Amino acid sequence: MDDLFLQALQGCNVSGRPPVWLMRQAGRHLASYRALRKRYSFLQMCHEPELIAQVTLLPIDAYQMDAAILFSDILVIAEAMGLGLRFEDQVGPLIERPITTRQDVETLPLPDMTKLHFVAQGIQQLKSQLQVPLIGFCGAPFTVASYLIEGKTSRDLKKTKRWMFQDPDSFHALLKVIADWSIAYLLMQVKAGVNAIQLFDSWANSLAHHQFREFSLAYLNYLLAGIKQTHIPVILFCRGSSVFAPQLAELRPHGIGLDWNCQMAQMRRLIPCPTALQGNLDPDILYSPPSRLEAEVQRLLDDMKGDPAFILNLGHGVAPDVSEEAVRRLVECVKRNERCLVTSSS
Ligand code: CP3
Repeated sequence: MDDLFLQALQGCNVSGRPPVWLMRQAGRHLASYRALRKRYSFLQMCHEPELIAQVTLLPIDAYQMDAAILFSDILVIAEAMGLGLRFEDQVGPLIERPITTRQDVETLPLPDMTKLHFVAQGIQQLKSQLQVPLIGFCGAPFTVASYLIEGKTSRDLKKTKRWMFQDPDSFHALLKVIADWSIAYLLMQVKAGVNAIQLFDSWANSLAHHQFREFSLAYLNYLLAGIKQTHIPVILFCRGSSVFAPQLAELRPHGIGLDWNCQMAQMRRLIPCPTALQGNLDPDILYSPPSRLEAEVQRLLDDMKGDPAFILNLGHGVAPDVSEEAVRRLVECVKRNERCLVTSSS
């Protein structure tokens, strides 16, 4: 197995180049994905183990990424809770019965993994076909709570934050239910065979520092404790995470995903090895002409040269209208560094 990614997560990659994978690598920018989407809805694809495996492999075959990320969504958990989930083109996710009252929270079902069994089956199918590590994932409780309350993507999280301030007790109760589902869900993924986990806290950046500590970090910590016995490496990713990175580091995860607001090398001085740092290219560099794109990638490679715990990624996902040629160029640029090292030392 190509395990550069796992080596970097353990802080011991001495190959001369960082591993590379991209958030949303298995998505709409790929023509092969769009062709499948003509035949199936997004949720059908998430539900069918064979399609989970097939889509997860698309970017591995197309670009030889150093890690695969499971094809699924952070919101399948909402569907398993019985809240109803749809995805609409141009709109995104819609929760059919959002959580609106304290009583809604109290009547949420206990974790039931039979509802998410298709994910375990997808992982099992993948394991025999993959030559690179497989990353499982779930949403961080705060981010998932925001979708359950808002019912859709919201830019300002008004309902979520109003609830958080008006009735923190029931808000905490909701976070706890989501965290318990997430722990059961991650344990199932680990048992099925994932090699690492990434937790996505996409909306944590709407919180002030002390709120982040109370309403997000505490539940990330609870989640980590719940899966600790598996020894699975975990990457914590918050959008807008550079401001929260020192707090995330307190939880001693194997890795932290960073956005493009921070300077990676400077962050390394704050968060020493062996904690892996992952990121942090602006996803929009993928719109640049080749020379500019390569210069942007090379700049980050130079910044983190020789770092044994660096994983090259974007600071958020690949946009749907990015060209495959640009993604291929990015990956080749990272891999070229290894060839340079091999030729110069041989
Ligand atoms: O390639 C991968 O990264 C693996 C699969 C993956 C998806 N979603 C597939 C997907 C992962 C890890 C996610 C995580 C996810 N989903 C997050 C956290 C990361 C982030 O982007 O901030 C969030 C907030 C969601 C919720 C979600 N799912 C939204 C808001 C949307 C609509 C917006 C969009 O990007 O389309 C989705 C849909 C979604 N999830 C698609 C894919 C491939 C597009 C579905 C389609 O084909 O129409």
